[in-house]
Amino acid sequence: MNMYDLMIIGGGPAGYVAAERAGHNGLSVVLFEKKALGGVCLNEGCIPTKTMLYSAKMYENALHGDKYGIYGDNIHFDYGKILARKNKTVRKLVAGVASKMKSNQVTVVNGDAMIQKKTSAGIEITCNGETYTGTNLLVCTGSEAFIPPIPGLEQVSDIILTNREILDLKELPASLVIIGGGVIGMEFASFYNSLGSKVTIVEMLPEILGGIDSELSAMLRDIYTKKGIEFNLQAKVVKVEGNTVTFEKDGQTSTVEGEKILVSVGRKAVTKGFGLENLAVELDRGGIKTDEKMRTNVPNVYAAGDVTGFSLLAHTAMREGEVVVNNLSGREDRMRYNAIPGVVYTNPEVATVGETEESATAKGIAFKVAKLPMAYAGRFVAENEGGTGICKVLIGEKYGEVLGVHMLGNPGSEIIYGACIAIEQEMTLSEMQEVVFPHPTVSEIFKETLFAF
Ligand code: NAI
Repeated sequence: MNMYDLMIIGGGPAGYVAAERAGHNGLSVVLFEKKALGGVCLNEGCIPTKTMLYSAKMYENALHGDKYGIYGDNIHFDYGKILARKNKTVRKLVAGVASKMKSNQVTVVNGDAMIQKKTSAGIEITCNGETYTGTNLLVCTGSEAFIPPIPGLEQVSDIILTNREILDLKELPASLVIIGGGVIGMEFASFYNSLGSKVTIVEMLPEILGGIDSELSAMLRDIYTKKGIEFNLQAKVVKVEGNTVTFEKDGQTSTVEGEKILVSVGRKAVTKGFGLENLAVELDRGGIKTDEKMRTNVPNVYAAGDVTGFSLLAHTAMREGEVVVNNLSGREDRMRYNAIPGVVYTNPEVATVGETEESATAKGIAFKVAKLPMAYAGRFVAENEGGTGICKVLIGEKYGEVLGVHMLGNPGSEIIYGACIAIEQEMTLSEMQEVVFPHPTVSEIFKETLFAF
């Protein structure tokens, strides 16, 4: 009998984590996935890009080994091998997700799920000619690259690529124009710049990485300008013809050319093609509207991950999926977005959580701020010859609570979760000052900054 406690459409971070947790809690679960388990994150996002970026970082480190007293002749890379390792890593992790599904008794159905109807017996889904009925439905269909309505950009081609196609380029492009200097744009800019491609960024706003502390964004842009990336800010792309991107800036029209053109101007929720309309689920700004328990307007129908069109991050998606499962399993839970970390895996990395000076000011929250160069952490100096970076901490004026922590420097991505705990637990400056940090670690920069108030 195809009757389940929970049916999940989409096997990305929201879907597979929810399935795993629900199975672990003893719910009967069916997970529908039309492509590979792991979704965009595992197959064409987080994991492949981080695998490639690690190769690029190794190459850069090898090239500059002399700074550390290390020398080598004929340092070079094999682009094909970088891609092959990326593919191997993805395969291994996809298999890992499949095995987790198995060990948690999750039924995985590989196919195009279609929501049919909701009756008193439950929600009905068809897939591969079979009908499945469930008490609850969790929609985790994710997002896809948004292609803006700019003449010449209508569809991907040999030249115009999104984050998906660029992962499988067979050869290193001599030059790359990136439309959109957000997270995807900057991570690919970092990768191709490290390997020697000429990279040009065309960004509409006055600064790259909108939403990130603007002092850190500007510092990162300076670092990459020195590494040879050309930034065109406040530049509006008006047309693309062949390899040429035309943009307007300060009333002037200019062009840049690239062997390849990456479009990274944001993503949009996938809400069509799987029968969502048959349940009359309400949308909000293109994504599925949910409350703090990830409930939609239709009873027993939930949504998690990018399909909500909000906080398009794998770790947000995972937690949203967990919120759904906890509530279904009898543990009261609600989604909170104030302590969600954001990391940009450039070299150096940007890692941030909580309020920025800009966002706190916009919300009228009174705060005090302290910042220190990363070089205040001995370990950073030991491992980052000539490296720059910064750690900035915001403390609420009224209650003394940690409001935000922002770092530029490696390995910020591995440190930031300490700040997430501080914000999640509403810890104050003096409480955090009493926490013992391991020495010598780069994480001590956080503690040092806490004593700079
Ligand atoms: P994004 O929203 O981060 O950046 C898009 C950028 O394109 C913005 O700076 C915007 O001003 C600019 N833009 C928009 N239209 C433009 C135009 N016509 N011409 C020039 N610039 C234009 O979106 P992105 O980079 O595509 O990433 C999509 C999502 O994926 C993000 O929400 C991000 O959080 C997520 N992501 C997260 C990663 C991470 O956590 N490390 C890595 C990659 C993606």
